[in-house]
Amino acid sequence: MDRYLVFGHPVRHSKSPFIHTLFARQTQQELEYGLAEPAIDEFAHALRTFFDQGGKGCNVTVPFKEQAFTLVDRLSPRAKRAGAVNTIKLTDDGVLLGDNTDGAGLVADLKSHGVTLADSRILLLGAGGAARGALAPLLAELPSELLIANRTYTKAQQLAAEFHDLGPVTTQTYEQLAGPFDLVINSTSASLQGALPPLAPALIHTDIAIYDMMYGASDTAFISWAKQHGARQTMDGLGMLVEQAAEAFTVWRGIRPGTKQVLRELKRNLGVI
Ligand code: ATR
Repeated sequence: MDRYLVFGHPVRHSKSPFIHTLFARQTQQELEYGLAEPAIDEFAHALRTFFDQGGKGCNVTVPFKEQAFTLVDRLSPRAKRAGAVNTIKLTDDGVLLGDNTDGAGLVADLKSHGVTLADSRILLLGAGGAARGALAPLLAELPSELLIANRTYTKAQQLAAEFHDLGPVTTQTYEQLAGPFDLVINSTSASLQGALPPLAPALIHTDIAIYDMMYGASDTAFISWAKQHGARQTMDGLGMLVEQAAEAFTVWRGIRPGTKQVLRELKRNLGVI
């Protein structure tokens, strides 16, 4: 049976085996999907061993995505842009192909929620790896402006300069921000500490769409905060998780699974519905 897995540390709570097992059942693909949690300095060795022993492909999550970028034989254009790899496929000619499906997953999830990206004014909070992965796919949707705000302002400036050739990317400090924005995407890890990016409540209005790349069994700190200040459309990163997985599955198997039912089952599994 074809073998896949996700590498991460920690990875025990990963929902990827659940999602890919449902995709496989739905598309009638024979495969098994597991977990691997190598020590931080053992990842390169564990990756090589997995493929030497017949593995067909893997996902890579925190903290190994940047390392995976340096370990594959070939990079897809979107992985090159993202500077990180979350999906690896062993091709028929024995090449380890590194890809990145995170940004495509974000855009697919936004679209599935009916969010219009073309001609919209987007505010992206954060300038770390998650923001970097999102930029090219967001700019490909032709927003009128994509503004990056980050606590460490120089990182926002560096990121904007890197993606400048792809579209209208600008930067501002949190204090400088002036709305109205159509969509705010929180790519910061603030929610992990239950903290909030320092955004002025006045930027939230009833017609704004709020997206937090994080997710949990209950609202993230950022989503609760946005709701409190009047946002009606709020989305968390669970849909992005399923969509990036669907994209990875498509890369591996050449068949695209449906995501709606799988997302519903995942929510049930997490106790969200
Ligand atoms: P990831 O790969 O998940 O993006 P990262 O590269 O560590 O993780 O980036 C985390 C991002 O969240 C950064 O933009 C960070 O801001 P700094 O560049 O100033 O460190 C942002 N971040 C984390 N905690 C934050 C907080 N409490 N408020 C605002 N931004 C925060």
